[in-house]
Amino acid sequence: MTTKEKNRPLRVLQLTDPHLMARADGDLLGVRTRESLQAVIAEVLKVHGQPDLILATGDLAQDGSVEAYRVFGESLKSFSCPSVWIAGNHDHIDNLLQVSREYNASDRHVIQGGWQFVMLDSSVPDKVFGALAESELAFLSETLEQHPDIPAVIALHHHPVDIGSDWMEKIGLTNRDAFWQVLDRFPQVRIVLWGHIHQEHERERNGVQLLATPSTCIQFTSGSSKFSVEDLPPGYRWFEFHDSGDFATEIRRAEDFQFELDQNSSGY
Ligand SMILES: [Fe+2]
Repeated sequence: MTTKEKNRPLRVLQLTDPHLMARADGDLLGVRTRESLQAVIAEVLKVHGQPDLILATGDLAQDGSVEAYRVFGESLKSFSCPSVWIAGNHDHIDNLLQVSREYNASDRHVIQGGWQFVMLDSSVPDKVFGALAESELAFLSETLEQHPDIPAVIALHHHPVDIGSDWMEKIGLTNRDAFWQVLDRFPQVRIVLWGHIHQEHERERNGVQLLATPSTCIQFTSGSSKFSVEDLPPGYRWFEFHDSGDFATEIRRAEDFQFELDQNSSGY
């Protein structure tokens, strides 16, 4: 490894909410989710190139089928790096775990490039809202206790703060106070990252950067009081992490992806 390679930042790709289906032509409000994911992957390769790690933050399948998870795993073969997958409200946890093991994507804690990534399961079977079980909170706390000196990124599916959208307020992380009580004990936490809200969101809380990311399929209207979709292209988040503890992040969208969105739907 040359000095230049050694010093280059760790490149991390977040893909979220692909909502894949067993049916090859499966669509969500008119957007064929396999095609939009492929468009996003092509955009990543064109704009940023190969990442070093992929974080997949839930709603990987719309129908929870083993086939959908395998389509996701096969799609990630465009990349030469490992990935880690967590569940969202649409996922079938057993099927997701089975296929994530087939693709070596079931790790819940990764240390790479001087950073650590903790993947939490906030899904609750048959519910749209999220919650962290006692076992997840214990895992989070034990992991951070064991690695106090490594800057940490915590990823989950559901939003752990109010994002200013009434209909989504009811479907966020319900036990968010318990989550923050754990995180507030650990100054190495730099980023909390999620999916679920199908839109870009950025803010700061007590020195922690809070980040959400567009879906690789349909987008929800930011700030809307009721369910509403926005005519924005599918996207992804890119990070560059430095071993100094600094990082940079940005959202990119597959601007050339053509789709006809059904904007009259009252849900998804
Ligand atoms: Fe979703």
